[in-house]
Amino acid sequence: MATDIRDKAAAEAAKTKRVDASEKRLINCHQVDVNQLMPLKYKWAWEHYDNGCANHWMPTEVPMNKDIEIWKSDTLTADERHVIMRNLGFFSTAESLVGNNLVLAIFKHITNAECRQYLLRQAFEEAVHSHTFLYVVESLGLDEGEVFNMYNEVPAIARKDAFEMELTREVLDPDFTTETFEGAQALLKNLIGFYLIMEGIFFYTGFVMILSFHRRNLMKGIGEQFQYILRDESIHLNFGIDLINGIKSENPELWTPEFQQQMVDRVRESVELELEYAKDCLPNGVLGLNAELFRDYVQYVADRRLERIGLPVQYNSPNPFPWMSETMDLAKEKNFFETRVTEYQTGGKLDWD
Ligand SMILES: [Fe+2]
Ligand SMILES: [Fe+2]
Repeated sequence: MATDIRDKAAAEAAKTKRVDASEKRLINCHQVDVNQLMPLKYKWAWEHYDNGCANHWMPTEVPMNKDIEIWKSDTLTADERHVIMRNLGFFSTAESLVGNNLVLAIFKHITNAECRQYLLRQAFEEAVHSHTFLYVVESLGLDEGEVFNMYNEVPAIARKDAFEMELTREVLDPDFTTETFEGAQALLKNLIGFYLIMEGIFFYTGFVMILSFHRRNLMKGIGEQFQYILRDESIHLNFGIDLINGIKSENPELWTPEFQQQMVDRVRESVELELEYAKDCLPNGVLGLNAELFRDYVQYVADRRLERIGLPVQYNSPNPFPWMSETMDLAKEKNFFETRVTEYQTGGKLDWD
């Protein structure tokens, strides 16, 4: 019986014509088999995949001895420890939220093989990022219950996460489909909520705070882990922007003035949530940082994100941390990471002898 069904399927498959890349679509694609990667249509998806692979790293490659020494000594003030703990608390579960949304909500609805190839790479990188927080918690001997429960127990973190989790729930509804106008808009809202807002805005306050310690020669192990994560996240953001803009251009009817206004409102709401988070992390200010500087920074970052998907800038705030762009540029250079022990980017051919 099973053989009959398989024979029938094989006969049907033999009749289907070969894939024409020009018929590929990012969502709702019925013309092309999503199991066949080549020929490529969306070259950007493959480039992001290639760049992700070239940046491969594992948290356990970064020595933590110096950080452990500093953490166990009285070098850091209570406020400085508070900033570090809050950021470990936020990121430790945010990485899982992003990974779960990718695998459970986004993957099924992106009907293109090269984008799915990237999503698989990104999902692995999110697992590496979660692993990083486990490694840091274990290295410093922190209370894992405290760190991994902050997304429930710290209101400023819980509010940011709730803003994201409702997007995942919407797409996970058993009746959800992108075949309807509302469904396709909801998927776009999910992509903007995760790529642009979660990975593109909610992560950046934490990057500045932790990298400020690194700049002061403190907690350089965690700082280096965050540099690797920042480098990965900037590719995730760029892929997300290409995907959002690609879906927009293939389905221009989705991008109504009302929808654009809703997205601007959501970005504005996320900026307020991020400022609450910055205040909670920095009740008294440390390392020359205070919540007021973060108002400018978060607004500056939000404007940059809005521009990338063709929405109007809202704030015109200056960037109080220009060194962040330098850090991002430096991260692209080879051999920037001093402590790297493994060279993955060999590209050599296999030798079986
Ligand atoms: Fe991540
Ligand atoms: Fe990410």
